[in-house]
Amino acid sequence: MDCFVVEGGRPLAGTVRAAGSKNAVLPLMAAALLPEGETRLERVPRVRDVTTLTELLRSLGASVESGVPGMLRIQAPAEGPTEAPYEVVRRMRASVCVLGPLLARRGRARVSLPGGCVLGVRPIDLHLKGLAALGARIQVEHGTVAAEAPPGGLRGGRVFLSGPQGPSVLGTANVLMAAVLARGVSVLDGVALEPEVQALARFLTDCGARIEGIGSPRLVVEGVEALEGRSVRVPPDRIETGTLLLAGALTGGRVRVEDCRPGELVALLDLLERAGVPLRTEEGPDGGGAVEVRPWERRPRALDVTTRPWPGFPTDLQAQWMAFCTVCEGLALVTETVYPDRFLHVAELNRLGAAIRRSGPTAVVLGPAQLSGAPVLASDLRASACLVLAGLAARGRTTVRRVYHLDRGYEDLDARLRGLGAEVRREPDPEAP
Ligand code: EPU
Repeated sequence: MDCFVVEGGRPLAGTVRAAGSKNAVLPLMAAALLPEGETRLERVPRVRDVTTLTELLRSLGASVESGVPGMLRIQAPAEGPTEAPYEVVRRMRASVCVLGPLLARRGRARVSLPGGCVLGVRPIDLHLKGLAALGARIQVEHGTVAAEAPPGGLRGGRVFLSGPQGPSVLGTANVLMAAVLARGVSVLDGVALEPEVQALARFLTDCGARIEGIGSPRLVVEGVEALEGRSVRVPPDRIETGTLLLAGALTGGRVRVEDCRPGELVALLDLLERAGVPLRTEEGPDGGGAVEVRPWERRPRALDVTTRPWPGFPTDLQAQWMAFCTVCEGLALVTETVYPDRFLHVAELNRLGAAIRRSGPTAVVLGPAQLSGAPVLASDLRASACLVLAGLAARGRTTVRRVYHLDRGYEDLDARLRGLGAEVRREPDPEAP
């Protein structure tokens, strides 16, 4: 098991290209179970979740070839295994998004229930409600969801896909992937608007699916007999981009992220600007572009944030924003509405000298703190990124342990940060069991 050793206290400087999005590539890979022909994915990030899903797709009888770096070619036969075992789902919750495609193409699916995780209780009731609305018979027994399409296959239906915390991202993906091959028309309301869901819907459309309302809260899907395989370029990772920009902002440095989509990060960019971090944004004609954060002369102001579904401030940047607030002037309330328990990083940030108190779904951050390096323990992917960021701003050495969390979703984060002038080394963790 590795750890990151961060020697903090120096501003970052440089340019980096955004990697392909983890949260976009996973549903796109699952969608490759649907077409008869080959799906070709470009700009696939080198992250462990992609390796895990590759393993799962192969166990379902799909061929997954890599060859050229950053490219995956996937083809799945109509007949084949239909079970996603606990051993895989346990390692990666996103495995659940093979449920919809398997049910639509092979008529049945068995997927272990993912259970909770460090972000809190994470039910999949909305996924199951949506698939049931398309006629699937669903039984949950012995920790496994067993779903079966009715004779003649899934049929169109109506479903509302939001719960108390808002729409479900992977729930929308799952039900959409099932609806595209169902007989008749499906109306999906209260769907997630996240760019990753839109990318999936556009890809399915390219493959021959009939979907109206992409980007709106209502998707109307007219089922088709079959889909054809197509090529798709994975969109840039907005959460990685946001993480790198915050690394620049919190060290008072200059970081330029290229090949990203500033329009997908409006909530973060607005906050950074209002906090007093000088920013430059360039938007290309295809929505692609670049963002640069520049050195600040006056310490930025701490600003309150509340996480919301897109286009609100993403929960996946909450921990990194909190790290940034620790170096800002003043008091900030960080409120989490998507995963009200996603706060395991608070205690670790406090170990580095931050002054943060949590009350229910809100953390109160008092800055500026003089952070000082210490050993810290990462609890999940984004919390790990937040600790690396705090380590970059801290005086002295921070050791972030359990970086396997980071490897799940950030491509070569240590090398990318080194490219920006950071002193970050990956080392075997001497204290790992
Ligand atoms: N929820 C329900 N019922 C459901 C599904 C979700 O009540 O059936 C609740 C969840 O408990 C949560 C909220 O709805 O409170 C939103 O969960 P959602 O289903 O949208 O999350 P997800 O689809 O499982 C994806 C991302 C997460 C990201 C969330 C929210 C992927 C692979 N994962 O998860 O990403 O935090 O959307 O934007 O796309 C990460 O990358 O670090 C990460 C955790």
